[in-house]
Amino acid sequence: MAGSTGGPSHAETSAHLYDAVGQIWLEMFGEHVHVGYYPEGWPESKHKKTWQQAQLDHVDAVLEFAGVNKANRLLDLGCGYGGTAVHIAERLKCKAVGVNISPFQVQAANNLARRLRFGEKEVYFVVGDALQPDLPDGCADLVVSVESAAYMPCKEKFVAQLARLCAPGGTVILVDFCRAAGPISASLQQRLASMDSIFATPGNWHSAEQYKQLMGKCGLQVVRDGDWTRNVCGFWNVGLWSLLLRASQPDMSFGQWYKEFNKRAFHTLWLFLTGGPAVLKMAAGYMLGHQKAVVQGGLDSGVLEYHVIVAKKPGK
Ligand SMILES: C[S@@+](CC[C@H](N)C(=O)[O-])C[C@H]1O[C@@H](n2cnc3c(N)ncnc32)[C@H](O)[C@@H]1O
Repeated sequence: MAGSTGGPSHAETSAHLYDAVGQIWLEMFGEHVHVGYYPEGWPESKHKKTWQQAQLDHVDAVLEFAGVNKANRLLDLGCGYGGTAVHIAERLKCKAVGVNISPFQVQAANNLARRLRFGEKEVYFVVGDALQPDLPDGCADLVVSVESAAYMPCKEKFVAQLARLCAPGGTVILVDFCRAAGPISASLQQRLASMDSIFATPGNWHSAEQYKQLMGKCGLQVVRDGDWTRNVCGFWNVGLWSLLLRASQPDMSFGQWYKEFNKRAFHTLWLFLTGGPAVLKMAAGYMLGHQKAVVQGGLDSGVLEYHVIVAKKPGK
């Protein structure tokens, strides 16, 4: 997987980064590594639900938006810790497979599936590059990518894989941050570069229009595109401190909360101190509110949008 310069490829760099931050992300975000959904927008919804509930609502809202209420087999390309795939498998009572470049995350995803008592042939996760996954054509009737497209160094190849892996008559859903359409000023371009610097995205941001064109070229028929920028912005209004505090659950006694908070805080500190440069950079970013400023600034400035694009593969 070496890159054309002889250095590591983007896939190798991603795998390394995601493995390095794997444990800390799991501690902080839980099994969903995507934004939450706030139907009334922000800041109206600010105190109405927890971060985790907003993430579950996001997956449900995506399915509803796509009009998907049943599937036989789901494929999640760039599946993180499996939270999204497992939630869909539970909800639609379907089989699921997820592909991820990070072995650490794949292990966590398989642990989650087994914990929820899914059989090894029903819901499982494999290590692989989403640009060349070792899966047969048409292997799933529902193919999703939730916030993984932005990480792909070649969007053409990625969308071609989404289309190839979807069975005729099936649905492809691509959910992600996109760049605004049209020319972008140098200062706005700088905002996208800041996103690349903190999330290790490869710098080839695509607009929703560009994704839709790629889908069309691969034989998919785009049926819906929703701009959800206002429904997800604000999710990043959460700093590290509140992520630690999310140990707080409404039904916990103070004693339980205090114990949980301490465990989480010490564990997180330990991970920061031992996780190496990638984790330290991320940790510093969270503590100083840098991530939040970059994502929020991108969304507020209009250069970043958040889209849910639904396409059908003709046939059947
Ligand atoms: C922001 S996370 C989204 C995770 C997941 N889709 C979810 O909903 O929780 C992006 C994911 O893309 C994965 N990824 C990045 N590059 C990849 C590649 N080339 N092939 C497969 N997965 C990749 C990362 O390891 C990470 O799990």
